[in-house]
Amino acid sequence: MSKSFLYVANWKMELSHQKALQLARQIADSASSLNAQQKKIILCPSFTELSAIAALLKNSDIELGAQDCSRHRSGAYMGEISAQTLAEIGATSCIVGHSERRTYHHETDIEIAAKVERLLEQKMCPIVCVGETKHQFEHKQTQVVLQKQLDFIFTALTQFSNQKPSLIIAYEPVWSIGTGIIPNTKYLTEIFTLLYDLGKEYSFDAQIKLLYGGSVNETNIALLKEIPFLDGFLIGGASLDFQKFKNIVS
Ligand code: PGA
Repeated sequence: MSKSFLYVANWKMELSHQKALQLARQIADSASSLNAQQKKIILCPSFTELSAIAALLKNSDIELGAQDCSRHRSGAYMGEISAQTLAEIGATSCIVGHSERRTYHHETDIEIAAKVERLLEQKMCPIVCVGETKHQFEHKQTQVVLQKQLDFIFTALTQFSNQKPSLIIAYEPVWSIGTGIIPNTKYLTEIFTLLYDLGKEYSFDAQIKLLYGGSVNETNIALLKEIPFLDGFLIGGASLDFQKFKNIVS
C-alpha cells in the first residue's frame, strides 16, 4: 500500500475573504475525489475565514488549521487570538513559528514554545515551522539551527506527555519559501534523518509527524515523496490554485 501523506495548505494573507471561501468550497466539494478520507488535508485560512470555513468543512474529512495563535491564554492583548478561541470554532491544528512571523514579527523560540503550550492545552496539534536562512545554509549551520529551534519545542512537549499529544514539525528552509528552489534530495534526506532522530527521543511523549515546506509544486511533489521519514507537505503558493492543489494532493 502506498504511503498516505498529509497536505497542509498555508494560504497566508494571499486571498480575500470571498476568494478564500470560494476555494474552500471548491476543495470541500471535491473531498471525495481528493480522497480526503485516506490522506489528511488541512486548510489554514486567515482568522477571519475560520468560522465560515469550519462550517463548510463539516462532515468533509478535511480539517481546519489556523496560521498563528497568541502565546497568552487570554487577557489585554490587542488583536491577538487565543488557542481556546481557535479550538472552540473548530480548528484542530495551528501553524506556529513560520519564518515570516519570525522575521516580520521578531518571534523568538521561547514565544513559539509558549504558543505550542497554549495549543496543547487545548488538545490542538501545533504545526511548528523550523528552518535555516540562506546565510545559515551557506555557512553549514542548519543542524545547529534546527536543534536550537526544536529544543524549546521539545521542552514544552514534555509537560504534556501524559496526554500523548500530536505535534507536526514542518521543515521549511527559508531560502526555499516562495523562490521555486528546493534543496536537493541528498540534503533533504540528511535533514529528515536528523529530524527523525531528534524526534525519536520524544516519541514516548508525543506522536510526531514531519513535513517539508518551501516551493512544493505539481512538478517536484513526486520527488519529494521519496524522501525518507517525510509524512507530508506544507504548501503555500501552490495551494492557492484549486487545480494545482488537486494535482499535488492526487
Ligand atoms: P511556498 O510557501 O510553498 O509558497 O514556498 C510555503 C510556506 O511558506 O509555508
